[in-house]
Amino acid sequence: MEIVVVENYDEMSDVACSVVEETVKTNPSCVLGLATGSTPLGLYERMVRGYREGKVSYQNVKAVNLDEYIGLPASHPQSYAFFMREHLFSKIDILPGNTHIENGMATDENAECARYNALLDSMPRDLQVLGIGSNGHIAFNEPLTPFESETHTVALAESTVKDNSRLFERIEDVPRRAFTMGLKNIMDARRILILANGANKANAVYGLVKGEVTTALPASILQKHPNVVLVCDRAAAQRLGE
Ligand code: F6R
Repeated sequence: MEIVVVENYDEMSDVACSVVEETVKTNPSCVLGLATGSTPLGLYERMVRGYREGKVSYQNVKAVNLDEYIGLPASHPQSYAFFMREHLFSKIDILPGNTHIENGMATDENAECARYNALLDSMPRDLQVLGIGSNGHIAFNEPLTPFESETHTVALAESTVKDNSRLFERIEDVPRRAFTMGLKNIMDARRILILANGANKANAVYGLVKGEVTTALPASILQKHPNVVLVCDRAAAQRLGE
């Protein structure tokens, strides 16, 4: 695993953006796996800036997202589909038909998981962008998710509901279930870019880099991937010297 420790969030986002832009410049019709949450916001801002400055075009890029809340339509401001349009897709030249995410309103959940798995198989990710949960989850693969998992539905851990409640008016409004790509789907990506900032991620980052490879800390599986770059700020990296 390549580890880049930077001073702060802005620097983390700068490095992340150069990795993404390099990927797109090398292969203008690449497939990007994308994440939501606070972590990649600075990255998305910079991707938009790079596009507006004419440095990069996303016209032939395809995007597949990690996860979506169950029960929220794509038009709901807290849905991940909405988040992606708001922060990235509506501000760059990616074609809406080339952006993919699970359908949070699917009535047949098993069929939706099968549809998404088939889509992922037909579209191997050249670069998968990830954040990490304070409990070491990646996408919504909470502790004890099997490493061989593919797209599935999950009940969110209480700590994740709490972490995510800052984006909702009331904690009761946070959906309790989600669709998520599985750990196997994530490991299928050719390259993985994982981002972490802030002291609340320090234990998870320690487990990711130095811990035992165990389903108790899902991100630890990335130790087995041949091409991972972790970009994190000093606060998130604080335990790496131990
Ligand atoms: C989001 C996702 C999650 C987040 C993680 C960190 O699509 O899959 O795993 O990456 O919960 O969230 P933030 O970035 O908000 O700290």
